[in-house]
Amino acid sequence: MKKVIVTGGAGYIGSHTCVALARAGYLPVVVDNFCASDRRIPGRVCELTGADVPVHELDCRDRAALARVFEREAPVFGVIHFAAHKSVGVSVREPREYYDNNIGSLAALLAVLERAHVPQLVFSSSCTVYGQPERLPVTETSPIRAAESPYGRTKQVCESLLEDVVSAARATPQLSALPQGSAVSQGSALRAVTLRYFNPVGAHPSARIGELPLGKPETLAPYITQTAAGLRDELVVFGNDYPTPDGTCVRDYLHVCDLALAHVAALEWMERRPAGSFHEVFNVGTGQGVSVLEAIRAFEAVSGVPLRYRFGPRRPGDAVTVYASVDKIERELGWRAQLGIVDAMRDAWNWQQALRAGL
Ligand code: UD1
Repeated sequence: MKKVIVTGGAGYIGSHTCVALARAGYLPVVVDNFCASDRRIPGRVCELTGADVPVHELDCRDRAALARVFEREAPVFGVIHFAAHKSVGVSVREPREYYDNNIGSLAALLAVLERAHVPQLVFSSSCTVYGQPERLPVTETSPIRAAESPYGRTKQVCESLLEDVVSAARATPQLSALPQGSAVSQGSALRAVTLRYFNPVGAHPSARIGELPLGKPETLAPYITQTAAGLRDELVVFGNDYPTPDGTCVRDYLHVCDLALAHVAALEWMERRPAGSFHEVFNVGTGQGVSVLEAIRAFEAVSGVPLRYRFGPRRPGDAVTVYASVDKIERELGWRAQLGIVDAMRDAWNWQQALRAGL
């Protein structure tokens, strides 16, 4: 069974990806420091898949500890790197910690991958790297504009770091091409895919894993479900005077189970590629724009719960309309989203109700 190390594997997208990997015949190996996740989650992945998932508790910035995991789990087929802070709001207040953690963990991982000769890497990025897009749908070649937050900038820097490390790997002679005992720097191939997620929402249909609440949600879907559950008084819709059909912002909401499958597709695609280093970037979205009001209506339809909401002022930094061009990922990886906003809201609501009974 091919082992895939999943950093941040106990987190929201990481745990769903572990389920998808196990179902596709890989063995996910979780590496997590549990700073924003729960120790019970990997057990849920085992319960859902029947896999016996190893768990290593460590901070990815701890290079020595990370290297020991790779030694212990060898041979490792590939790595999916989710471990990172993700709150836009906190990143504004604590930029140093965001830079240190998000960039430091990828830098440490790349050093370990080179020494362990594990070439396959999938990196978790975000459509936030596009900033306020000028043209729709957003393609992978859309310009990378100034990010709206330190969080967004850490994703931009990480993508640049990957790009530069891959360029260096291409320029360096490979180990196999060197005479034995050569003192020349031993280049190691790096085959990397960056996935730029649009707006991940929903939960596993079993309601055994999902997005864990960490204080007041910043993003729309958990705010909707928590309001419906009575944990929040009301949802404030940030602006209803935008130049969109109903005046509210439009986003590309992607079911987390579809997103998880995109990671499996990326690994399978990398395996089919000829030897040598590369870094390819793919948008992961549905290709469909959904407004805030449409998301609310979808929630109300599947839950039967009327949502308390009111219109408030625009949120600074919000783009009006963002949705992905998914041509590249469909063409190259053969992946496309199967689920829509209604499925996502149904599963998010079931997860919220399961949480009410306790994790
Ligand atoms: C968020 C993140 C972004 C991340 C992206 C994809 C923020 C500020 N941005 O962006 O970094 O890359 O998700 O996961 O967190 N809305 C309301 N009321 C609320 C919450 C949201 O009306 O209480 C609206 C927003 O104005 C927006 C839409 O819902 O129009 C979606 O917002 P959100 O879920 O925060 O996602 P993004 O802004 O797209």
